[in-house]
Amino acid sequence: MDKGKLDCSLETRVVHGSQGFDPVTGAVSFPIYQTATFRHPGLGKSTGFDYTRQDNPTRKELEETMAILESGKRGFAFSTGMASITACLDLLSFGDHVLYSEDLYGGTYRVAETTCARHGLSFNLVDTRSLSAVEAAWKPSTKALVIESPSNPMSRVSDIRALSALAHTRGAIVIVDNTFLTPLLQRPLELGADIVIHSGTKFLAGHNDTLAGFAVVADTSLGERLFEIQRTTGGVLAPFDSWLLLRGIKTLAVRVEKQERNAHAIATWLAKRPEVAALHYAGSPDHPQRALSESQSSGFGSMMAFTLRDKELVGPILERVRVITYAESLGGVESLITYPILQTHASTPKELRDRLGVDEGLLRLSVGIEAAADLIADLEQAFTGR
Ligand SMILES: Cc1ncc(COP(=O)(O)O)c(C=O)c1O
Repeated sequence: MDKGKLDCSLETRVVHGSQGFDPVTGAVSFPIYQTATFRHPGLGKSTGFDYTRQDNPTRKELEETMAILESGKRGFAFSTGMASITACLDLLSFGDHVLYSEDLYGGTYRVAETTCARHGLSFNLVDTRSLSAVEAAWKPSTKALVIESPSNPMSRVSDIRALSALAHTRGAIVIVDNTFLTPLLQRPLELGADIVIHSGTKFLAGHNDTLAGFAVVADTSLGERLFEIQRTTGGVLAPFDSWLLLRGIKTLAVRVEKQERNAHAIATWLAKRPEVAALHYAGSPDHPQRALSESQSSGFGSMMAFTLRDKELVGPILERVRVITYAESLGGVESLITYPILQTHASTPKELRDRLGVDEGLLRLSVGIEAAADLIADLEQAFTGR
C-alpha cells in the first residue's frame, strides 16, 4: 500500500515517509537510485523517469515526504538551502521588488544584494514584526515577501497569518524560511504562506553531515513553475543525499522534542547568569512575541542567542567549550556555538547588524541532543574558566 494515504500524525509520518518502502522489492529502507539516466522501454516510452536532473525515485520519495509534512501540494529538494532560495527568486522577473525580514540569515541577504540585484530585482529589508512597517515599505512592484520566523539569529517572531493576508491583497507571494522550527513545530502553508523553504542541512538532515534545501508550495501552478526552474537550473539533491535526508527525517520528531527540552533547560540557566545581558529565545517567558509564537507554532525550537555583558568573554568561551563545538551551522544532534558577526552574518551590513543587536557580544547556540546537564556544565566551565 502507498503510505502516503495513511491517516496519521506527523510523528508517525516522519518515520514512514510517502511510499515508505520500495514498491518493487519491499525493502524497508527506500533504495538509493544511484543513476544519472533511465533506460527507455521502447520508442517514445518512459518508465516515468528519464534523467536524474529532471526526476529520480529517491529524490521523489523525499520531495513527496516533505510535501506531506508541510501540508503542501508539491515539494522540491535542492542541493542546499541557498539553492532553494535562489530557485524561488527565479520565479520573479526583472524589475520586481522583494521585501525581506530584516533579521535573516546572512547568506539570504548576500544573494539579494549580489546576484538578484545584478539581475534586476530590487529589495528592502523591513521589520516584519510590524504590519505597519511592512505596509510602509510596500511598493507597487513588490512581488514577494520573504519571512524568517523565528529569525536568525535574534529569534524575532513575525505574524505569518497577517502578513500572508496583507501580501495576498496586494498580489504578492509569501515565502517563509521554516528552517528553525521544521514542519513539526510550524507549518507556514497552513497559515497562508505560498512557499515554505528550508535549509535541509539543519534539523531535517539532523546530523551535521549533509547539505540540502527544500521548497514546498501551496498550489499546483506555483509547483509547475518551480519544477520548470528546478529541472532547468539543475541545483537538485543527489540520490545518496536524498536518502540521507529520508533517514534523518525518520528521527526528526524525537530529535526536535529532546532538543527543545534541552533548550528550555539551557535558556532557564542562561537567563540567571550574571555574564548574560540579554537572552534571545522565543520560548523565554518574557519574549515579546511569545503569545504570537504560541498562536502559530506548536513549539519554540532549540535555537537561541545571548548577548554577553563583556564582549571580551567571547574568545575564552569559544576556546573553552568541550562538549559544545564552536562551528557554523545548526539543528544537528551535536550542540554548536556560533559567533554571528564573524560567521553566519558576516555579509550583513554593520549598520543593520548594530540595529538588530548582532554585535561583538552576541553568541548563537544550537542545542543538540546531549544530556542537558552536560551542556550546562560545559557552558559553566566555559563562562568561568573553572
Ligand atoms: C535560516 C537559514 N536559511 C537558509 C540557510 C542556507 O542553507 P544552506 O547552508 O543549506 O545553503 C541557512 C544556513 O545557515 C539558514 O540558517
